[in-house]
Amino acid sequence: MKIHEIFILFSVIFVISSSKKAKDIQEFFKEKNCDPKCTFNSTNLTKSNMHFFPKSCNQICAEISLNDKTDLSEQELIFLFQNVKSIIGILNIISTNYANLKFLEGLEAVECFDDSEVSILLNYEMTELGLGSLTEVNCDGFSVKVNEKLKILNMPDIKKMKNPTKPNKEVYVGIADNSNSFCISPLEMYNFLEIPTAGVDQIYADSYCKMDTICTKLSKNCIWILGDVKITTNCDLENMKSVEAIFGGITISGTNITDFSFLENLKYVAQLEHKPAVVIENIPNLMNVTFPKLKRVKSDSSYTMEFENVNPIFTLNSTYCYEIRKSLGLSDWAPKFDGFSCEDLDSNHDYIVQNQKKKSENRNGIGAFLIIILYLFI
Ligand SMILES: *[C@@H]1O[C@H](CO)[C@@H](O)[C@H](O)[C@H]1NC(C)=O
Ligand SMILES: *[C@@H]1O[C@H](CO)[C@@H](O)[C@H](O)[C@H]1NC(C)=O
Ligand SMILES: *[C@@H]1O[C@H](CO)[C@@H](O)[C@H](O)[C@H]1NC(C)=O
Ligand SMILES: *[C@@H]1O[C@H](CO)[C@@H](O)[C@H](O)[C@H]1NC(C)=O
Ligand SMILES: *[C@@H]1O[C@H](CO)[C@@H](O)[C@H](O)[C@H]1NC(C)=O
Repeated sequence: MKIHEIFILFSVIFVISSSKKAKDIQEFFKEKNCDPKCTFNSTNLTKSNMHFFPKSCNQICAEISLNDKTDLSEQELIFLFQNVKSIIGILNIISTNYANLKFLEGLEAVECFDDSEVSILLNYEMTELGLGSLTEVNCDGFSVKVNEKLKILNMPDIKKMKNPTKPNKEVYVGIADNSNSFCISPLEMYNFLEIPTAGVDQIYADSYCKMDTICTKLSKNCIWILGDVKITTNCDLENMKSVEAIFGGITISGTNITDFSFLENLKYVAQLEHKPAVVIENIPNLMNVTFPKLKRVKSDSSYTMEFENVNPIFTLNSTYCYEIRKSLGLSDWAPKFDGFSCEDLDSNHDYIVQNQKKKSENRNGIGAFLIIILYLFI
């Protein structure tokens, strides 16, 4: 069982358990000063109670739980939700056969009751969300999982996510196990990355959706790059100066740079594949491992960032490793220096010192060997 599948199980259990709290939701509506005329009191919206739905209100207080028992057509939902811009309460769409959520196209904001999350799960006919106006989700999480035909989100405008009860806690964003060809657009990923309180580690997609307007190769004046970027000695570092986000990975290899000042605008690197997002290798002259503006690094692997064979000062002193980890909010597995996590650098300090001594002796040995070979050929 993959880690994100376990997460799904948890969130399903969570959804089920959260409906137990239905008693105090009226309390919550009171706290939020909900207009009784705009409050929908039933926990299930059906044909039999749809005439109580406050369809003329822009802001409604309601528990919207659509599921396999919901007997409303998409047309009826479009009619009911035509004026709804904001939902205070609960929003779950689970096991329905709707093709999309375009009936919520006008929805701009959701504020969740207590610890609930917006759950869009197991909708077997859904091909896109189509939440075109959604900008603000103040909930414990936002889950879009196991919608087996889902190809795109089409949710281009998300700007704010806050946990309603714990303002410092990340809002969980879980996007996983949708169709095999599910793609997330660079803009959607960028929006999530731009929200400091949105957790991005559990966003999984087969690929990024194509986007004509962004660079797919490094060239002059690129701001976003779609695809992996490799910086080697032959690259024009000038071209990297404008780059703000890479939707893919970056490898910097075998150059004579001494610091990362040429990445003067790089804020985000988001790799969807199961490999590190940032690889820095064979740069013996590197003196400074601080990135000027880098804020977030994401990958499908826990090993988001790797340094291999750079200046030995960085493996001898774990401070640099810990500083990077802290500034980018990485897990305990990243960054790694020559395969060592920050803790490993400390616990293997003596071994690393010995090894470096051996390496430098070997290097001299190999050098002598090459000279002899060369000599024999000439
Ligand atoms: C919903 O419940 C609240 C509080 O009990 C009440 O004030 C309100 O009138 C009810 N609304 C409807 C449409 O029944
Ligand atoms: C819907 O809610 C009503 C009460 O509001 C309840 O009587 C009914 O059993 C519910 N139906 C389903 C399918 O959950
Ligand atoms: C790195 O090498 C290039 C040419 O290969 C040179 O133009 C540049 O000045 C060098 N940079 C440093 C920091 O030594
Ligand atoms: C290291 O690089 C960062 C980012 O470019 C810079 O802010 C910092 O001053 C540099 N540190 C030193 C000691 O040069
Ligand atoms: C490690 O590096 C940091 C930052 O440059 C420095 O403050 C610290 O004294 C160093 N520690 C050791 C054991 O050299």
